[in-house]
Amino acid sequence: MATAAPLSPSELVGEAPPSPAGPVGPDEPLRPAPAIALPRAAQLLRFNQRQIEFVFRARRELGEVFAMRSVLDERITVTSHPDHVRSLFTAKPEEAPSLTAESPLRPIVGPNSVLTANGPRHLRQRKLLLPSFHGESIARYTEMIEAKTAQELDRWPVGEPFELAPRMQAITLDVIMSGIFGVEGRPAAGTPERQLRDVITFLTKASTSFLAQFGELLNVGRDEARGLLRRGVKALDDATYPIIEARRAVDDLDERTDIMSLLMRAETEDGERLTDHELRDELLTLVLAGFETTANSLSWTWERLLRTPAAYDLLRDAVRSGEQADEVVEATITEGMRARPVIPMIGRRVTVPWRLGDVVVPAGSPISMSILLVHHREDLYPEPFAFRPERWLGHKPGTYEWIPFGGGTRRCLGASLAMAEQRVVLRAMVERLELEADRPEPEHAMHRNVTMIPGRGARAVVREKR
Ligand code: HEM
Repeated sequence: MATAAPLSPSELVGEAPPSPAGPVGPDEPLRPAPAIALPRAAQLLRFNQRQIEFVFRARRELGEVFAMRSVLDERITVTSHPDHVRSLFTAKPEEAPSLTAESPLRPIVGPNSVLTANGPRHLRQRKLLLPSFHGESIARYTEMIEAKTAQELDRWPVGEPFELAPRMQAITLDVIMSGIFGVEGRPAAGTPERQLRDVITFLTKASTSFLAQFGELLNVGRDEARGLLRRGVKALDDATYPIIEARRAVDDLDERTDIMSLLMRAETEDGERLTDHELRDELLTLVLAGFETTANSLSWTWERLLRTPAAYDLLRDAVRSGEQADEVVEATITEGMRARPVIPMIGRRVTVPWRLGDVVVPAGSPISMSILLVHHREDLYPEPFAFRPERWLGHKPGTYEWIPFGGGTRRCLGASLAMAEQRVVLRAMVERLELEADRPEPEHAMHRNVTMIPGRGARAVVREKR
């Protein structure tokens, strides 16, 4: 077989041909997207078990815009064109509210948190929280992330395979809890913060079981949890309310810089403060949205790096020599999030008819953007299945072409924090460890809630510590 000539970095990122998209008038004739012909149950099963194969096949057979059935038996139109993505990210919020209102986190955090609310309430909460997640606030966390990473790496065994994902979660959960509750280091045993940390660790582990996946379906679209999830929610409540109660009692609330204190001081336009219940919803949203996504994103990057020696060599040489280290670390994380976006699909529900190329959907339609498909378009990313961090050297990711954090007024609130954590942890691991995959074959993706995670937890072996 002839091997293609290697591509230079400038040939590794391209452009998609333009495609019209956006709101259209009520007289525009509707043109539905071609639909996947499988029965709904088969679609759901395949989508949940093997989303990658499912969406790639649909795009191959039906084209860039296609329709599938949802859990609630709705017709969802799926697109992967950057111009369509742009139309949804730049839409007026009232014309394309987010589908995160229907997120699987909703039965846990309720309908009113920054993730699940739509409209003015969402924008108000977002405005309040944004400064805490801004680059400058995040810079304050860097030392803490470094310290936690160093402690964690010390504990890793040498010569024995283990899963990277839970180890990464231990770091990212401590980081987010420190930011939110203002505790230094890992919360001490016996404190409510520690209890919350333990409950979350337990629930995260339990949520991969078949029973939990089933329970998830039972809870789709509900405001209150049912079944096993209800017990999980009670455990979270039992841990969270005492933290809130204790913080209400302190006399230096005004001086505190953590996110919980900030939320407690905040007032609405009517001069009202958040109730305990509202606070609980907001705090749990931030903890739950933040730590596992970041940990799994890092785990995927390692899963890819350990199976792509050229990329690992490039990163190792840059980090250890200090030459172009920042650029190569950034490029590696960017490529990891392109190749394996932890949240593979996001959506909006248009409230007016909407064009997506040749397709026109009616008002009220849910539209999903397949991040996975956008990130694997040949025209945007030549050799899309190759892991090539060098494609990002000298290239900034495009706002509508590289979308692991979504976009517009719903763009991930924690993106800067997540990037900072990934930079610190990746760099420290490359500096201090020689890692290998436990097996040469790639790990399959496992789908849990809305996330896509490495099926075997990104198993690796530390060959040597430096
Ligand atoms: C690599 C890690 C992460 C990834 C891949 C990720 C991805 C996403 C995505 C795709 C969305 C939906 C965006 C949209 O619909 O346009 C989102 C929303 C959100 N994320 Fe993240 N996230 C990560 C880390 C974090 C962290 C560390 C936090 C910390 C608090 C966080 C908090 C949130 C919140 C609050 C929202 C809702 C924002 C809104 O609707 O206004 N995420 N994230």
